[in-house]
Amino acid sequence: LRAKYLTRVNEAGDEAALEEVRLAAIGKKGEVALEMRKLGQMTPEERQTEGPRLNALKDEITGAIAAKKMALEDAALDARLSEEWLDVTLPARRGPRGVADGSVHPVSQVWEECTAIFADMGFAVAEGPQVETDWYNFDALNIPDHHPARGEMDTFYMHRAAGDDRPPHVLRTHTSPVQIRSMQAQGAPLRIICPGRVYRADYDQTHTPMFHQIEGLAIDKNISMANLKWVLEEFFSAYFGKSVKTRFRASHFPFTEPSAEVDIQCSFEGGTVKVGEGDGWLEVLGSGMVHPKVLEAGGIDPSQWQGFAFGMGIDRIAMLKYGIPDLRAFFDSDLRWLRHYGFSA
Ligand code: PHE
Repeated sequence: LRAKYLTRVNEAGDEAALEEVRLAAIGKKGEVALEMRKLGQMTPEERQTEGPRLNALKDEITGAIAAKKMALEDAALDARLSEEWLDVTLPARRGPRGVADGSVHPVSQVWEECTAIFADMGFAVAEGPQVETDWYNFDALNIPDHHPARGEMDTFYMHRAAGDDRPPHVLRTHTSPVQIRSMQAQGAPLRIICPGRVYRADYDQTHTPMFHQIEGLAIDKNISMANLKWVLEEFFSAYFGKSVKTRFRASHFPFTEPSAEVDIQCSFEGGTVKVGEGDGWLEVLGSGMVHPKVLEAGGIDPSQWQGFAFGMGIDRIAMLKYGIPDLRAFFDSDLRWLRHYGFSA
């Protein structure tokens, strides 16, 4: 009996087979149980030897079954582990472009292009907060309280609860506050650009409440409008890949003196804008010589240093270069639009 059942336990291939052996051997109607029932008809002497022997056999089979059960479980786990093994170092599968592996948004693309061109001309990238104090966004830029320019900017003001004694904050309406922050952080001489998000409460085909600007600032001894014009023409020619004429129109910004709006040469035939040809002009940025009061606000001595500054719309020049007609679509996150105008990563 012992040899028979120990062999069967050993040969059981899975838990179901093992359970069958258990029932056949030590179940209520199993062979060992039947043998035990026979004890009743035995003489006391026989019972004294047979009883313990059967109990020991039952224990031995129980132990063997438990051991086999553990071995079967281990084997099952090993099998699962080797089957479900996953190579986490494999590269991801590539889906259709613009869905699984994403595409580069035109704004990001142009942001990078601009940064690279200005970097070649020696401009470092600076950053500032998008939630800005009204001092950096306005006062330091020579736009005091009640100045009409504050009203014209369609500013988003941050709500302040009663008792909040922090200075008033706004969503920055332009990247110009980074001029002040860079002057304070680095002093003169200085050559930086600042690409970033800006906010104004405005919405139509050419305006969205969030858009992107790139600020430029160069401060040194003997900087002039001629340097500004050279840098901008150099930039536009590199960006559009052909020589682009610029036109400076006298203008007014509180933070520059003199100030100029800059147009680039283009043609408007058949409703499409082509840059670098024809005799039309399109306004693309504001610029000028940094106002002495602005240098002072940034901690720089205007009797020693001069600078030029400009602010340009990134989205605007992205639309021009890639023939995108409606600014609002930039921020709709429509996959078909992203697939059409996006760049492969
Ligand atoms: N900050 C101005 C604007 O947003 C642009 C500008 C920047 C003008 C720097 C002059 C100098 O319209």
